Amino acid sequence: MPRTFRNSLDLIFNYVRPYWKQVAVLVVFFGVVSLIVAMQPLVMAPILDIALGESSFEPRTPDSQPPVTLTDLDLNNVDQFVAYYLNLGSMDAWTIVLLLAAIYFSLSLIQAVIEFVSFQLTVRVRVRAFRDLQRDLFKHLMSLSFDFFNYQKTGEILSRLEKDTQGSVKSLAEAIRTLIVSPTMIFFYGFMLVRTNLRLTLLVTVIATVQWFIARLLSGAVRQRVIDQFDVFAEASAYLQEVFQNIRVVKSFVAERFEVTRFEELIERMLPIHFRFAIYKHLQEPLTVVVNGLANVTILLLATWELFQGTLTIEGFVLFLYLGRAIILPITQLAQVYLEIQTMMASAERVEGLFQLPSSITSGAEMVVNLKDAIQLSNVGFSYEDEPVLQNVNVEIKRGQVVALVGPSGAGKSTMTDLLMRFYDPTEGKITLDGINLKELDVKSYRSLFGVVAQENLLFNAPIEDNITYGRDGITQENIREAALVANADEFIRELPKGYETLVGDRGIRVSGGQRQRIAIARAIVHRPPILILDEATSALDTESERQVQAAIDRVIEDTTAIVIAHRLSTVIHADKIVVLEAGKVVDQGKHEELLGRCALYQHLVELQFHLNGSDEISETEKLEESTE
Ligand SMILES: Nc1ncnc2c1ncn2[C@@H]1O[C@H](COP(=O)(O)OP(=O)(O)O)[C@@H](O)[C@H]1O
Ligand SMILES: [Mg+2]
Repeated sequence: MPRTFRNSLDLIFNYVRPYWKQVAVLVVFFGVVSLIVAMQPLVMAPILDIALGESSFEPRTPDSQPPVTLTDLDLNNVDQFVAYYLNLGSMDAWTIVLLLAAIYFSLSLIQAVIEFVSFQLTVRVRVRAFRDLQRDLFKHLMSLSFDFFNYQKTGEILSRLEKDTQGSVKSLAEAIRTLIVSPTMIFFYGFMLVRTNLRLTLLVTVIATVQWFIARLLSGAVRQRVIDQFDVFAEASAYLQEVFQNIRVVKSFVAERFEVTRFEELIERMLPIHFRFAIYKHLQEPLTVVVNGLANVTILLLATWELFQGTLTIEGFVLFLYLGRAIILPITQLAQVYLEIQTMMASAERVEGLFQLPSSITSGAEMVVNLKDAIQLSNVGFSYEDEPVLQNVNVEIKRGQVVALVGPSGAGKSTMTDLLMRFYDPTEGKITLDGINLKELDVKSYRSLFGVVAQENLLFNAPIEDNITYGRDGITQENIREAALVANADEFIRELPKGYETLVGDRGIRVSGGQRQRIAIARAIVHRPPILILDEATSALDTESERQVQAAIDRVIEDTTAIVIAHRLSTVIHADKIVVLEAGKVVDQGKHEELLGRCALYQHLVELQFHLNGSDEISETEKLEESTE
């Protein structure tokens, strides 16, 4: 077996195994069903004798032997077999007919009950296996590092998580049922047919084989179409998600028409895929009908010939016509289930593919609770693919220091904070915390040392207080209030209609940008992290909001360790250390005055960038700067 197929199979088995008891019950149930289905027509055999006026059943006496044993049972004598065991010889014709009809109907009732119960059981196993698979896949996706999400469309991940996990176990029970019932019926009917007439059975076998090949021939094509369909679904879902998420952009660029056209094109492209799928999927049925028609006619002709030859009794003739047709049904079902299994495997294969992806960040064992001395970047280099983004970076961040990263856009400032948070590992050099390589530290405990505020902070559509405590355990109501007070957020929150319980809308759309940033600051500091990272936390704000957020930032970085990327000079000037980055390299580092004196890029940045911003609130040093120009 090819490796991917084996893996997909393993995956499915792994998720069904916990429910093996239910599956075992199902197997027994399906076994009983198949016996009932197989026996039902044969029970009626003695009625044929009566209908044909040939009934001559011997009454059973204590010493009479069975007229037919299992070893020589065939369609010509199954009536005698049934008659002996039910002792029909002692009954009159109507009693026999009513008794057999009652047995037949009782079997149907038993079958109905078993089918209902097994269907319920089936659903339970399938839904649970689906839940387990979806849970584990989500857990796995959560454990993957950023480089996976960088190159994946969210909508596609959603589609995998929703559709493929479901598809992996969807036809499981149907498959089990068919794999038990159909072979039993084929075996049972086949046995009777072979015993009765070899020539006729050979004919039936040929027909069955042709049908099987039709199914096989089509299965590859169907499978490919299913994969195409899933791919287009995934693309559409990715597209829709993006549009709705960016609805503000769409509206402000009056791009509704543009998007409608794009969507039309997308769904238009789906049509031929659906059509092609339908062709292959439903080609099987008409082809089967033709083969079956041919089969029926041939069986009829041959059986009649055998009847005239005297090699088949009349009951045998009728039963053969019946069974010869009946055996085709389970064969068709097996062929269909083969198709279903192929579809299932296609889904399982994609799910398995995701499970196989390793997280590029692996956790070390050592737990950390604090920063004691310093974080040190030594000869750190990093590239996303082949493009180097950081090169030979040597920076020390001492406990209690505020370190500012400055440099033109694209210089690698945000990337440096990503490395500090261990979202990525450096491709060269190393980063240490108090002398220990980050790779040796427990990732979760390490990341918990940080509080992060980014340029655009998306909130979750939940009450404000839940956004502030997000992901942290053991945060009290007081902690929330305190954090909000420090973040300059308490006042506006309490003025909201529902205060801390106000829902913020999708991604926090119902609060203003400045308010969102202040909630984000409260969220970053609520667990009192020893290190803060602020990445252009005020750059997306208007002057008034900026002032409020800036005041909050100045307060929170006062007595902690902080890494600040700011576009405002006032924040940078007071930093204990300023690191000047350009094109991934550290050009210089030092205090404001030192750098002003010796670093051309820094001077340039101070002139160009910082003076354009926040000039309404110029600090002493900035004024000084201006007067010297
Ligand atoms: N996820 C990513 N995949 C590939 N390249 C990236 C990614 N993020 C950033 N980059 C590249 O890395 C470089 C540094 O980016 P960044 O650290 O965001 O700069 P800064 O924060 O200084 O503006 C840029 O050239 C950018 O194009
Ligand atoms: Mg950046």
